[in-house]
Amino acid sequence: MASPPRHLLPLLLLLALLGTSSAAAPGVIRLPRAGACAAPADPAVYDRPVIGIVTHPGDGAAGRIDNGTSTSYIGASYVKFVEAGGARVIPLIYNEPDERLLEKLSLVNGVLFTGGSVKRGPYFETIKKVFQYVLDKNDAGVPFPLFAQCLGFELVSMIVSKDNNILESFHASDQASTLQFPNYSSLQGSVFGRFHPDLIKKLSTSCLVMQNHKYGISPKRLRENDALSSFFKILTISPDENGEVYVSTVEAQKYPITCTQWHPEKAIFEWRKPMIPHSEDAVQVTQNFANYFISQARKSPNRPPADKVLDNLIYNYIPTFSGKTSKSFELVYLFS
Ligand SMILES: *[C@@H]1O[C@H](CO)[C@@H](O)[C@H](O)[C@H]1NC(C)=O
Ligand SMILES: *[C@@H]1O[C@H](CO)[C@@H](O)[C@H](O)[C@H]1NC(C)=O
Repeated sequence: MASPPRHLLPLLLLLALLGTSSAAAPGVIRLPRAGACAAPADPAVYDRPVIGIVTHPGDGAAGRIDNGTSTSYIGASYVKFVEAGGARVIPLIYNEPDERLLEKLSLVNGVLFTGGSVKRGPYFETIKKVFQYVLDKNDAGVPFPLFAQCLGFELVSMIVSKDNNILESFHASDQASTLQFPNYSSLQGSVFGRFHPDLIKKLSTSCLVMQNHKYGISPKRLRENDALSSFFKILTISPDENGEVYVSTVEAQKYPITCTQWHPEKAIFEWRKPMIPHSEDAVQVTQNFANYFISQARKSPNRPPADKVLDNLIYNYIPTFSGKTSKSFELVYLFS
């Protein structure tokens, strides 16, 4: 069959759009009327969420970019991870005065604790304050999610157990690993609830996630600690280089808090280490985690003033290319 001449196509489309008879002629494309997309979405869902990320002491490059004692940084991959889920970031600079921290917390819809190494001093104190803020908000019936990765998970375990020696040593530096699921029924409603069953299976057989840690907690120690076992539900476990098993993903039983010992942000945004998985499956794991976290933040009822948000967004800072100096990060945001 011959197609209509090319120059007639816009006219035909216009005629189709103008057609008003309710019984559309066969072959006529009916488009929704103008304005049909403007219907308000669920007002309880906030589509402009902002996430606070706590900065970590140092420059992310062992002092080779900036070795000032008050310098702190955020690997840009954490920022991009949040952006990938549809949110923006406000940096919570760990050594700023408490009033500033509280002011910024009033502007966000959830928080993220990054990886790193520091487990004491002012940084740990700030993490404790922010963690308490997360609990208080949720206890007051105000949804406010936390996503804590690697060091973040370790610090949360120390805080919840009230035991700074709760962690155990593991050999999982620069290692891609599997995720094993000890209890499939615990996955329902968790971040893994949005995974295709095939991807769950692949996670348990292929090394799709990046680990980089010397500490962790074994399932046995977590289960035997009353505070931890009543707070957390174990979603996944992973073996280290020696086959020693540690908890790799948990979710709080009663709070929108998810913690990973592994690094979801790296599969898409970090390239310094050759063992970081970058396959389509690995990327999808990361995207699922970002989407899940930000879906929790959309439930936050906080609607901060747009100008205050703009004044504090991470876009007020220019990231530094660190791919030639840092062992871990392509790009870092520095604060001093
Ligand atoms: C770090 O500090 C030393 C002095 O202790 C200085 O010589 C060096 O230039 C500093 N490095 C950077 C990147 O600022
Ligand atoms: C598995 O998870 C379900 C749902 O969270 C829970 O009710 C059940 O007790 C768990 N089973 C074991 C053996 O931990």
